[in-house]
Amino acid sequence: MRDIFDAIQKSAKRIKEAIDVKDIGYSQQENSSGETQLELDIKCDMIIAEELSHVASVNTISSEEKEHAEVLHEKGEYFISYDPLDGSSLIDVNLSVGSIFGIYKGDFGSQNMIASCYVVYGPRVEMVFAENKVKLYLLQAGEFEFVKEIRLGEKGKLMAPGGTQQNWPTYHKEMIDGFFKEGYRLRYSGGMVPDLHQILLKGGGLFSYPATSDKPEGKLRRLFEVFPFAFIYEKAGGVATDGKERVLNLGYAHLHDTSPCFFGSKYEAQRVKEVYAKNA
Ligand code: F6P
Repeated sequence: MRDIFDAIQKSAKRIKEAIDVKDIGYSQQENSSGETQLELDIKCDMIIAEELSHVASVNTISSEEKEHAEVLHEKGEYFISYDPLDGSSLIDVNLSVGSIFGIYKGDFGSQNMIASCYVVYGPRVEMVFAENKVKLYLLQAGEFEFVKEIRLGEKGKLMAPGGTQQNWPTYHKEMIDGFFKEGYRLRYSGGMVPDLHQILLKGGGLFSYPATSDKPEGKLRRLFEVFPFAFIYEKAGGVATDGKERVLNLGYAHLHDTSPCFFGSKYEAQRVKEVYAKNA
């Protein structure tokens, strides 16, 4: 695991350099979800694949930018799913973006997840790595330094409601409105990594990306976004649900499957479960 941790750190430093200097022009390619890839998406994908290829314990990798998984070392025990540059469309407006990693033993799948990690590229570069505990690291003078362990409070103050409101189910809109009436503050940048990072570091709240009329299976990808953050939120004392069940009990049929998802502290997640149990 140490080798994987080191490879992710090396990738993060190289991606930070690529973000700083690389022209972000659009490529002619689309990724598996039909989004036009930036040259930077492709570059970041290559950086991570290259760094992980040096780690003998990594059996197979699967990137959000590629249709198929790639076997690296047949004798390795770890499987890694990653989103090299989540929220990359925010780069041209200079908002924060991130890389997300899910680490599985034996095969992909939420039940096999043993660790997960994300890196935020913002005014500073930070990394959150979760195994038994959730730990925050800060990139300082070229090295990641441990800062602190992260724990979520029982109840937070922030609300990050994803998706287009006109496509939300009515009961979802009523639930979100209810939170705002209770005093929750809107904090939504449109980047999953910084939005979930903010809720984690400010003690709690709710990030939601529901099933919508235009995206009945949600938008966010199970292996590349939803499972890794579910693991981190649970290890930090929070909750990750699809509205009906624990995210980490969900399976997947295809690498790029999506799911509705809600990540938060216990108080807000309980409300989600109650509302969705009544309506869905
Ligand atoms: O998956 C890409 C992504 O940009 C996430 O980082 C983010 O949470 C989500 O899409 C935002 O989607 P929307 O703009 O529909 O709220």
